[in-house]
Amino acid sequence: MTRTPLIAGNWKMVLDHQQGTLLVQKLDWTLKDAKHDYSAVEVAVLPSYTSLRTVQTLIEGDKLSLKLGAQDLSAHESGAYTGEVSGAQLAKLGVRYVAVGHSERRQYHGETDELVNTKTKQALAHGLVPIVCVGEPLDVRKAAQHVEFTVGQVTQALSGLAKEQVAGLVLAYEPVWAIGTGEVATPEDAQEVCAALRAAVAEQFDAETAAATRVLYGGSVKPASIAAIMKQPDVDGALVGGASTDAADFAAIVRFR
Ligand code: G3H
Repeated sequence: MTRTPLIAGNWKMVLDHQQGTLLVQKLDWTLKDAKHDYSAVEVAVLPSYTSLRTVQTLIEGDKLSLKLGAQDLSAHESGAYTGEVSGAQLAKLGVRYVAVGHSERRQYHGETDELVNTKTKQALAHGLVPIVCVGEPLDVRKAAQHVEFTVGQVTQALSGLAKEQVAGLVLAYEPVWAIGTGEVATPEDAQEVCAALRAAVAEQFDAETAAATRVLYGGSVKPASIAAIMKQPDVDGALVGGASTDAADFAAIVRFR
């Protein structure tokens, strides 16, 4: 089973729509100059909600090969949920990917595994590709419980899904202690957990499904660290935070080979 690598840039709450426009233009020029083959390494950006329309217009107008993603979605279908954005609204805007259960949502907004499961189902119901994020905090890593912890998160996030849905979604292993800290996991750390997550999918669904599901690593990925991480057999890409808000750094990460 060949899995197309995915490099996704999560801008978090950093770039506004004007800064996002400049970044996308510079990224596109840089990747075109480098003759980047988007069918060999897929590239996505996940702007804030306020920038989605602007970036979508740019992608459509200039026929860019970049994919659009959102950082979150509502667990609700539609209705009186002030401040929320639904899967249907994102899909209508041309959004393809949506992060679900990012550790910052779990940590600062109390998102539970149950909510992550509901959001994953909402995303799939609207034809979006969820990027389901899991990862252990430092105390769990120190207690050597990281595999059990992250496997538990994945098992609950994927509960009740059909195997065809799981084959098409993306998992992202993002150890909390590596996010925004400059402390990237070693390639072996990333491989250990990504392989365990794939094995958990095989156990919960089947081997064919597990072989199709893409598993990303995220946490302080930089141009200097990406190549070794991408050499790991169970790592199919990266979810990049800080370095994705710099066009040159993000382009260098995309061009990891
Ligand atoms: O979604 C991205 C991750 O939180 C990683 O962020 O690359 O700034 O550590 P980072």
